[in-house]
Amino acid sequence: MTPPMPVGHFDRPNVARVQDHLDGGTDHHAADRDFARRLVAAAPWLPASIRTNRRHGPRVLDCLTRESGIDQVLDLGCGLPHDDNRHPPDAVHRIIYIDSDPAVDAHARMILAERDGTDSLRADLTDMPALLAAQPVAGLDRSRPVGVLLHDVLPWIDDEAAHTAMAALRTWLPSGSVLSLTHAASDTAPAAMAALTAHYASAGIAFRPRTGQQIRHLLRSWKPVERGGLVTTASWRRPTPPHERLDHSHAYAVLASPGDHPT
Ligand SMILES: C[S@@+](CC[C@H](N)C(=O)[O-])C[C@H]1O[C@@H](n2cnc3c(N)ncnc32)[C@H](O)[C@@H]1O
Repeated sequence: MTPPMPVGHFDRPNVARVQDHLDGGTDHHAADRDFARRLVAAAPWLPASIRTNRRHGPRVLDCLTRESGIDQVLDLGCGLPHDDNRHPPDAVHRIIYIDSDPAVDAHARMILAERDGTDSLRADLTDMPALLAAQPVAGLDRSRPVGVLLHDVLPWIDDEAAHTAMAALRTWLPSGSVLSLTHAASDTAPAAMAALTAHYASAGIAFRPRTGQQIRHLLRSWKPVERGGLVTTASWRRPTPPHERLDHSHAYAVLASPGDHPT
């Protein structure tokens, strides 16, 4: 029997739905829209930042398939399906969408799983051993590299859980794998980010943008794939990085490999 669709709490804002609204999507409710209005009043660049982050996913997938020969991908904290992640490149033969939010998982099952080679899993990054042991993740071919998208997820997880998740992921990933990380920056527009953090806190949601240095620390055991290392999401692989005033990403992006595993 098909389990009933989770209804969720539509009377309070939800991270995935607020993002969806700010990116022009259709999966949101009045509480999400009201909350989003307050966020944008504090940080008028927020919709541009979210758009930049979401457009980053397909650009990275394209690079992972062409440059690293990766054809199996985990999208951790995938968020609600949107135009940019509904159609991964054909070269991605297997993609698993993972999110802890039951409503996101229900959407992912309905929409994303229509494509062959696509699966979804409801799992929590704060319990990485269980996430990695669950099917269909455990069924991935670990004799070959895996691509991992970790886009705008760690800001919703505390420091200890984020470090633990990164360590577990690094140990599990086969050699040649590539992690793509994006992460909200607390040091490019500190006042507006602090205001966003306070708004989220007032809704009972812990939002933790981090400084470039803190993000590098999360990645200290990983090897940057590119010489530039951590850059703003808007300037990632752009021939002319946007001028600071035009760079509305207020987030960092990096590709990293697990490097040599400890023996
Ligand atoms: C801001 S959205 C980002 C969505 C998508 N990755 C993107 O870049 O557009 C953050 C997503 O992470 C999910 N998330 C937050 N904490 C999580 C956790 N502990 N485990 C798994 N997913 C989580 C949320 O449910 C939400 O869908």
